[in-house]
Amino acid sequence: MSLASKIITSFSAIFTTTYNTLESILSRPAQGNDSQQDDHTFQPPKPTDKRSPCPMVNALANHNYLPRDGTNVSLLKLIQAAKEGINLAPDATLIVGLKALQTSTTGGWFTFNLDDLNKHGIIEHDGSLSRKDVFFGDNHSFSPETWATVFKHFHGLEKIPIDVAANARKERLEAAKASNPEFNLTPDHARFSVLETCLYLMVFGEGAKGNARTDWVRVLFEQERLPFQEGFKRSESMLTVVDILELQKKVEAV
Ligand code: HEM
Repeated sequence: MSLASKIITSFSAIFTTTYNTLESILSRPAQGNDSQQDDHTFQPPKPTDKRSPCPMVNALANHNYLPRDGTNVSLLKLIQAAKEGINLAPDATLIVGLKALQTSTTGGWFTFNLDDLNKHGIIEHDGSLSRKDVFFGDNHSFSPETWATVFKHFHGLEKIPIDVAANARKERLEAAKASNPEFNLTPDHARFSVLETCLYLMVFGEGAKGNARTDWVRVLFEQERLPFQEGFKRSESMLTVVDILELQKKVEAV
């Protein structure tokens, strides 16, 4: 293991342990409204609910792990939601969550609304798998045409191997570059784009081995729903930054 990986692993372990300890000390038995809070059934958003360009964040709100109205999400709530919904390690959520706070329009330092994430150039970038580029006017709503160009790579496959996912992403970026005269992808955004592919491979697959279940991935993108009724279960072991970094190397290699 390289020195950088060792440092990241140590930091990750310390952060996650600290978070888990604080959470267990601070969490109090819910008073009165616990049945409402524990209702994680899927409900599509109401027209007034705020949603983001991220299918997973939207799904977490559609299942009430995040506030259904998509407003005033704190970093702590985001970390808790990702842990409860898909068992993503707190340090992994922290990395993207800190970026999310940079988009905030809530007036508070530690909260954001889900549609704040639409802001181009912080996390949101060109060449998304299921959204159009900001140049075409809407960078956040699910675009069936865009997704179809990606999903065609997965047709007939029960599971999506890493190389297929990486090639689908690569082709989507090439198509975006060819069609958008203002196409721009900074190295930072290119890294986010790779990480997004890693995230769906990991959450719906076999950790750092990829092999995401095609039908589960489809439900996430097309319905912004966690595919519980299709058999998805939150991973028993926590999905860590180390797994993501391992996948990142494999996707980048393709
Ligand atoms: C919890 C904190 C998270 C935040 C704040 C966040 C935020 C975002 C944002 C702003 C985008 C738009 C990027 C773009 O395509 O322009 C995005 C895309 C994406 N996110 Fe998340 N995300 C989070 C966690 C996750 C997780 C846990 C997954 C796991 C599956 C995930 C999956 C994706 C995917 C697949 C995309 C690409 C969508 C596309 O290209 O069409 N995200 N995320």
